Amino acid sequence: MDPIANPFAPGAGAPPPELAGRDALRETAHIALERARRGLPGKSLLMVGLRGVGKTVLLDRMRAEAEQRGIYTLRIEAPENRSLPAILAPELRVALLRLSRAERAKDAAQRALRGLAGFARALKLRYDDIEVGLDFEPEPGLADNGNLEHDLQALLEAAGQAARQGQTALALFADELQYVPEEQLAALITSLHRTAQQSLPVVLFGAGLPQLRGRMGRAKSYSERLFDFPEIGPLPDAAARMAIAIPVRDAGVQITDAALDIIVQETRGYPYFVQEWGKHAWECAQASPISAHDVRQASAIAIAALDESFFRVRFDRLTPTEKRYLRAMAQLGPDAHRSGDIAAMLGREVTALGPTRAQLISKGMIYSPSHGDTAFTVPLFDEFMRRIMPGDGWQRN
Ligand SMILES: Nc1ncnc2c1ncn2[C@@H]1O[C@H](COP(=O)(O)OP(=O)(O)O)[C@@H](O)[C@H]1O
Ligand SMILES: [Mg+2]
Repeated sequence: MDPIANPFAPGAGAPPPELAGRDALRETAHIALERARRGLPGKSLLMVGLRGVGKTVLLDRMRAEAEQRGIYTLRIEAPENRSLPAILAPELRVALLRLSRAERAKDAAQRALRGLAGFARALKLRYDDIEVGLDFEPEPGLADNGNLEHDLQALLEAAGQAARQGQTALALFADELQYVPEEQLAALITSLHRTAQQSLPVVLFGAGLPQLRGRMGRAKSYSERLFDFPEIGPLPDAAARMAIAIPVRDAGVQITDAALDIIVQETRGYPYFVQEWGKHAWECAQASPISAHDVRQASAIAIAALDESFFRVRFDRLTPTEKRYLRAMAQLGPDAHRSGDIAAMLGREVTALGPTRAQLISKGMIYSPSHGDTAFTVPLFDEFMRRIMPGDGWQRN
């Protein structure tokens, strides 16, 4: 079918043509924000899940919906090697400048901008990657202690007061939160605790890999009370079918039930894979309706495409030792495995493999669903590892 009209969008952060199966979470976000705007208590939302399940696009959708309703938002993405204050400061500045244009909020927003100036100046020594335009002179004593936990609290408090003055709410959307160092996470949690205690309308919507939940708990033991951690997983069958069928129908094309059955089965409902299969099924079909035969042809191409992109970029960042570790896990199957079983597979001691495992966790390749267990953060990565390192040569060195 016409490739120009292909509606599907495989790719990290690429908005899908139909965001299927996430209505309940969008509604939860909506309620949390409207409660915050009215000064009512509510929980922030931290969405956890594997790579490719749709955390980023869901965050982006929630943000767009919040903006439409007059909520002030900012979005940050924690990269592996930058500090939280450095990524937060410029985004907060933009949100506060916008807020300062609303007559009601002007004074409080300007005060928060003075707080931001003090914040950036005081923390520059410790976090030298902070680069932010300063619109006002600092107010002595406001967020300028040089201690992140204290200053971030004061800053978000001032920002929350500005949002309250403006009869709106401030929503922070933060992606890849698992990369934020624990001491900085702790400062963020404390700050949100503080604004919640004062019923200030500041809400965090975060997303991260499954290890985020444990990191938050270690950073601050009370984080379970402040946040909900909804798990974002594969789409239920009906939603996965809609993710394909609706865009196809909207493009004036048909797809058979049998074709949808195969897509659901092959992708296990993982959103990234659903997009990839949708795209190639569309390409393979000569005419409407897209048939089971088209999808079968598309499967081989979709797997090859994933191998070259989604899986490959992650594989290429690994050392030979890390690859062998993951290959041993793959040999054991897709689920979580005991460290001892993985070590046995490699003929090594558990302790000798500790550093490799730690590296793989920090690269976001694996996580520990419960103590002593190890699982992949990328769905179907076990099958990929068996394809890319076939045979048993990996066991020998
Ligand atoms: N609810 C959904 N329905 C259909 N496709 C989705 C859905 N959520 C995500 N996708 C698709 O899945 C892919 C991965 O989404 P992304 O948000 O980058 O995942 P994550 O951030 O969890 O790694 C994108 O191609 C996106 O279009
Ligand atoms: Mg993402």
